[in-house]
Amino acid sequence: MSQSPASVVHRFPDLEALSRAAAQDLTADIRETLRSQDRYALALAGGSTPRRLYELLAAEAEAPLPWSQIHLFWGDERVVPLDHPDSNARMATDALIDAVPIPADQVHPMPTHLDSPDAAATAYTETLRRHFPDRSTTFDTILLGLGGDGHTASLFPETGTPEQRRADEEWVRPVTAPPRHEISRRLTCTLPVLNGARRAVFLVAGEGKEDALTRVLDRDDSSLPAAQVRPRATLLWYVDAAARPQSSG
Ligand code: 6PG
Repeated sequence: MSQSPASVVHRFPDLEALSRAAAQDLTADIRETLRSQDRYALALAGGSTPRRLYELLAAEAEAPLPWSQIHLFWGDERVVPLDHPDSNARMATDALIDAVPIPADQVHPMPTHLDSPDAAATAYTETLRRHFPDRSTTFDTILLGLGGDGHTASLFPETGTPEQRRADEEWVRPVTAPPRHEISRRLTCTLPVLNGARRAVFLVAGEGKEDALTRVLDRDDSSLPAAQVRPRATLLWYVDAAARPQSSG
C-alpha cells in the first residue's frame, strides 16, 4: 500500500487570492498532465467557495485551457433539478461551463432528474465505471470543500463511521444530510472513489471552518470525513485567513 500523501497547506489573506492560486495550480496540472495523456478528469466541488475559482477558469485568467480534452464530474450533488438554484451543477454551469467550449458530452452531472436518488446513484455509478474501470484510479483532480462539521462532498460525520466510509463498496450513494443542512437529500461519491483521485484539492474559506480545519490538519481526526481523504499522490489545502487565523507553518 503506497504511503498517503502529506497535506500541503497554502494560506491566503482572502478568497480572491486563494482562488487565483488554486486556478494557477489547476491550470498548470492540467497542461502538464495532458502532455502525457489525452484526457483530464476533473471532479468539481459544490457549495459556494469554488465559484470564484470556476469564474477564473472560465476567464482563462491563467492560460487557455484545452477544454476539448477535459471531462467534468461532480463529487456530490443535491437532489434537486439541475437548473435549481441549490444545484451544484447549476452553480458550475453559471460560473464556468456556459462560458467555455467544453463539449456537452464531456460534462457529467449527477442525474438528479431520474425517478429516485437510488436510480440516480446507480446511473452515476455506471457513468463513473465507463470512465474509470477501478475505484482505486479515478479523477486526475477532485476539488473538495469543507463544512464546519468536517464534512466533505456529502460525507457527513453522522452518516457513517470512519470504518464504514473506508469500507464502502459503493461508488455513489444517496445520503440524507443532518437536519442542520437545508438541502437534506443528496448524492455523494463514496470515500474510496474520492481517494481514487490522483490529486485532492480542498478549498476552505470563511468563518466557521477553523475548528474543523484544526481537527483535520493538526489532529488528523478521522471521525471527520474530510480527514479521511487520502488521494493517490497529492493532497492540497487552499485556505484563507478567516478559516485558518493562525498560520501553523
Ligand atoms: C455541497 C458541497 C459541500 C461543500 C461544503 C462547503 O454540496 O454543499 O459538496 O461539501 O463543499 O459544505 O460549502 P461552502 O463552500 O459553501 O462553505
